[in-house]
Amino acid sequence: MGKIAMLTGGGDCPGLNAVISGATRTLEDAGIDAVGFLDGWKGAIESAVIDLTREEVAGIITEGGTILGSSRTNPYKVEGGTEKVMENLKALDIDGLIVIGGDDTLGVATRLHDEFDANVIGVPKTIDNDLSATDSTFGFDTAVNIAMEAVDRIHTTARSHHRVLVVETMGRHAGWIAAYAGIAGNADVTLVPEIPVDIDEVCKVLKNNRERGKNYNVVVASEGAMFTKGDFITQDTELDAFGHVKLGGIAKALADMIERRTGYETRYVVLGHLQRGGAPTAFDRLLGTRLGMKAGQMVIDGDWGKMAALRGMNVEAVSLAEATGELKLLNEEFKQLVTLFSR
Ligand code: F6P
Repeated sequence: MGKIAMLTGGGDCPGLNAVISGATRTLEDAGIDAVGFLDGWKGAIESAVIDLTREEVAGIITEGGTILGSSRTNPYKVEGGTEKVMENLKALDIDGLIVIGGDDTLGVATRLHDEFDANVIGVPKTIDNDLSATDSTFGFDTAVNIAMEAVDRIHTTARSHHRVLVVETMGRHAGWIAAYAGIAGNADVTLVPEIPVDIDEVCKVLKNNRERGKNYNVVVASEGAMFTKGDFITQDTELDAFGHVKLGGIAKALADMIERRTGYETRYVVLGHLQRGGAPTAFDRLLGTRLGMKAGQMVIDGDWGKMAALRGMNVEAVSLAEATGELKLLNEEFKQLVTLFSR
């Protein structure tokens, strides 16, 4: 094995640099050259590449974002895109690719492995924590802590003005961020995509809590939550290269409905990309580094077509196809927990 490339695709998240650092060091120790494609699959199509050395990655573990840049480019949606990727790997003498991404980016890696026999290894990334075959994705812990701190702050201003405050979290179609931040942040009601939103029930809970003596309320809503009768709330009708809608706007919709139905003064806040920015937590720095080291070791072992995953306390190689087959949504225990703390 002479040279390995890595790329980071999809929405960025804290901990990406830790993976790049862990993988680069592991490869360098084994005498393997490391390079990075810039801006995800876009760089692999355009052959935009930089060298990665121990010096290059020194200290990046503490930084959010990704030194390689990212994009939502889908080679399967670019004319001749996949062929270009394969040609570039050959022209640059690259023997294998470490792909750091969520279900979309890793889905492309899986297809390249199946259809072109490409040597790929996946590393699971996303603040949404919605990837199967891994117990957790790095970036999630940081996002949850940012969201929880925001919810904590919202309590004091909501209390001062006796208002209802609705906080919208990211997470796409999985309610993990909302569930963790809502329960840890002691919200009156937490709304997740896995449980349809009954607005009458939400207002009843808020009123009951006021009757019990609380003179303000906090509601945490995942951007992907849906009303019992209705669809997702989206920012516009455009789909991205992977066919996703741009979610967002449920907090405003809820705030309007709650104020109209209860008469309580209501405000909302959308946390948005704040949840993806800034330095990773210690957990994400370590998880990213461990997954990066494992990906490097998998290269050395020729464990292609697999993904480095967290299983219990251990980092293991699992099948890429298993990881990208189905989204990991809230399980029964978490749905019960959310329901219990939204009454
Ligand atoms: O998948 C990560 C994520 O942050 C989702 O939670 C969110 O819906 C989406 O990306 C936002 O994407 P963008 O950065 O393209 O607006």
